[in-house]
Amino acid sequence: MSAVVLVERAGAVAIVTLNRPDKLNALNQELVAALYNTWSELDRDATVLAAILTGAGEKAFAAGADIAAMSTMSTTEAKAFSDLGHTVLHRMESVHFPIIGAVNGFALGGGCEVALACDFLYASDRARFGQPEVNLGVIPGFGGTQRLARRVGLGRARELCMTGDLLSAEEALRIGLVNAVVPPGELASKARAVAEKIATKGPLAIAQCKRVMQRGADVPLPVANELEAQAFSGLFGTEDQKEGMTAFLEKRAATFKGR
Ligand code: COA
Repeated sequence: MSAVVLVERAGAVAIVTLNRPDKLNALNQELVAALYNTWSELDRDATVLAAILTGAGEKAFAAGADIAAMSTMSTTEAKAFSDLGHTVLHRMESVHFPIIGAVNGFALGGGCEVALACDFLYASDRARFGQPEVNLGVIPGFGGTQRLARRVGLGRARELCMTGDLLSAEEALRIGLVNAVVPPGELASKARAVAEKIATKGPLAIAQCKRVMQRGADVPLPVANELEAQAFSGLFGTEDQKEGMTAFLEKRAATFKGR
C-alpha cells in the first residue's frame, strides 16, 4: 500500500502530497496523523526553507474529511478527530517554513480547512472550494468556521459555511481566498517558483515573518506590533542581517546561512 502522504525534496523545498486519489484524498485518521508526522519531521530539518502542499491526482486537493469513517463516529470519537485535525493545522502554522497550498482540484470541508492552514494559496482553474458540512448535518470541524472568516471576512465565511455552496477558483480569487489562478499544467511550477524564491531569502527572517504574522493575527494590534518589534530587533543579532545589509551596500547578492 502506498503512503497516504508523500514527501519529495527539491533542494530547500519540500513538496508534500495528500495521496488517496481514489477517494479524492479524503482525510481519514491515518492521513491526518501522517500529515502531523510529516510536518513535525520537516520542522526538525533546518534545510527545509519552504514547502508546497498539494493533492494527488487530477481531481482533488482533498474532498473533505472521510465521510465513510465519520459516519459511525460517536460524539467522543468525533471530538478526538476534530482535536487531531486542529492539532495538525496548528502544527502547519507553527513550522519554521512557509507552506504554499497548490490547490489542484476540490478543496472541500476538511480539504478547504487544510488549505486555510497554508500560509497562502495558488489554485488551478479547476479548483473548487467550499465548506459543505451542513449538507451532512454537521459543521466544519478542523477550524473552517474560524480560519475562513479570518481569511475572507465574516460575511463571506458565514455564507459559505451556512449554504454549503462551492466556489470556483475565480470566485476564490475574487474574495482573496487564493492569490492566483493558473491553468492546471502550470500550478506546480508556479508554486515551485515562489517556494524557490522564498528559499533564497534569509531563513531566520522568513521564519520570524511567518511566526509574527501568524501569532499577530490572533492578538490585539499593540501586542502584535510588540511581537514584530521583538522579532525585528532580534534579527539584528544574526549573521544573516549583517550579510543582507552588507551585500546591499556592496551591490552584490546576499548569501544567507540561516545563522
Ligand atoms: N469522504 C470519503 N470519501 C469520499 C469523499 C469524502 N469526503 N469525497 C469523495 N469520496 C470518495 C467517493 O465516495 C468515491 O469513492 P468510491 O469510488 O469508492 O465510491 C470517490 O471518492 C470519488 O468520488 P465521487 O463522488 O465518485 O466523485 P465525483 O467527481 O462524482 O464527485 C465530489 C466529487 C467532490 C463532488 C463528491 O465526491 C463529494 O461531494 N464529496 C464529498 C464532499 C464533502 O461533503 N466534503 C465535506 C466532508 S466533511
